[in-house]
Amino acid sequence: MDQIVNVNEFQELAKKALPKMYYDFYSGGAEDQHTLKENEEAFRRIMFRPRVLVDVSKIDMSTKILGYPISAPIMIAPTANHQLAHPEGETATAKAAAASNTIMIVSYMASCTIEEVASICNAVRFLQIYVYKRREVTAQMVKRAEKAGFKAIVLTVDVPRLGRREADIKNKMISPKLRNFEGLFSTEVRPSEGSGVEAFASRALDASLNWKDIEWLRSITKLPILVKGILTREDALKAVEAGVEGIVVSNHGARQLDYSPATITVLEEIVHVVGGRIPVLFDGGVRRGTDVFKALALGAQAVLIGRPIVFGLAANGEDGVRKVIDMLKNEFEITMALSGCPTINDITRSHVRTPDERLH
Ligand code: FNR
Repeated sequence: MDQIVNVNEFQELAKKALPKMYYDFYSGGAEDQHTLKENEEAFRRIMFRPRVLVDVSKIDMSTKILGYPISAPIMIAPTANHQLAHPEGETATAKAAAASNTIMIVSYMASCTIEEVASICNAVRFLQIYVYKRREVTAQMVKRAEKAGFKAIVLTVDVPRLGRREADIKNKMISPKLRNFEGLFSTEVRPSEGSGVEAFASRALDASLNWKDIEWLRSITKLPILVKGILTREDALKAVEAGVEGIVVSNHGARQLDYSPATITVLEEIVHVVGGRIPVLFDGGVRRGTDVFKALALGAQAVLIGRPIVFGLAANGEDGVRKVIDMLKNEFEITMALSGCPTINDITRSHVRTPDERLH
C-alpha cells in the first residue's frame, strides 16, 4: 500500500484481491459502459482558472452538510454488499469514515446490519433506501435507522428496474445476502441464468414509485430526506417542490441507463434551478482532488465517492478506505492552494472553465 500514489491505483489492487465475479460487479457499468467512461472523461475537459498571490498558507477544507461538520466535502456513497470486498464489510468502511471525520451513506443493500454499523463507531451516518413492493419492509428499515441514530434518509430514485450490467449477466452474479432483512424477506434468488442481483431487484423493487410517494416517506419519518439520482433541471424542481432537504446529482455510477450524461456535465443546470434552496450533492467519476474542486466550483456542496471506496476496502480493509479518503483530501487541499482558495467559500464558478465556454 505504501507504493500507491493515487486512488486509481487501488483499482488494480482490488482486481488482484477479488474473485472476478465480485470485481466485475463493483467495477462495471450498464450495457456499452459509455456513461461509465464519460463520468471520468468529462472531468478531464474542465480546466482551471487559478488565481495567484492569495495567502494560502492555511487551507481549511472543512464544511457542513445538513448542519453536520465534516473535515472535507468528500463523503462515502452508498454501495452494496461490502462483505464481498472484505470480511468486515460496512463496519470497516464506517470506522474509516469516523477516522476521516466524514459522513457515510450506508446502502440499503449493505451486508452488515445497520445496528452493527451504528454500534461500531460514531461516524455520522445517513441511510440510503430503495422502496420495496412490500412497503412495510422499507418502513421498518427507516424506523430502525432512526432508532440507530442515522441522521438522514437518502431515497435512491433511479432504480425502478436494475440497469443491464452485462458482466453480471455473464458471470451469473449471485444474489445479495442482506442480513438487514433476515426473517422479513428472503433475498436469496437462484435464477437458472443471468444476474442474481437483477432477479432479486425485479422481485423486490417497487417500480410504481413516483413523486407522490415522497409524502408517504415523509409520513413515516422525521429525518431529512435527500433524493439521489437527479439528472435534469425538471426533476430538480420537482424535488424542491416535493419539499426534500437535498438532492444528489447522480447516474448511479453509470450502472443504470447507459448514455445518461456524465454527471459533471449536468450539475450546473441543476444547481442553477435549485438556486440555493436546498443542498446539492454530487457523485460519479470523482477520482482526484481536482475533480472534487471542479464539482464544488460548479455548485455542489460535497461529493460522494463510490467505487474507489470499495476498491480501497478490497485492497486493505479499513486502512484502505482511510487511505483513499486521505489521498483525495490531500489532492483537494493542494488544488485549493494552487487555485488561490484558502477556504471552501472561496471556491467559485470563475475558478473553472467548462468546454462550452469561450476564451475571452
Ligand atoms: C453503487 N451505487 C449504489 N447506489 C445506491 O443508491 N444504492 C446502492 O446500493 C448502490 N450500490 C452500488 C454498488 C456498486 C458496486 C457501485 C459501484 C455503485 C451507486 C453509488 O452510490 C454512486 O452513485 C456511484 O458509485 C458513484 O460513482 P463512482 O464514484 O463509483 O464513479
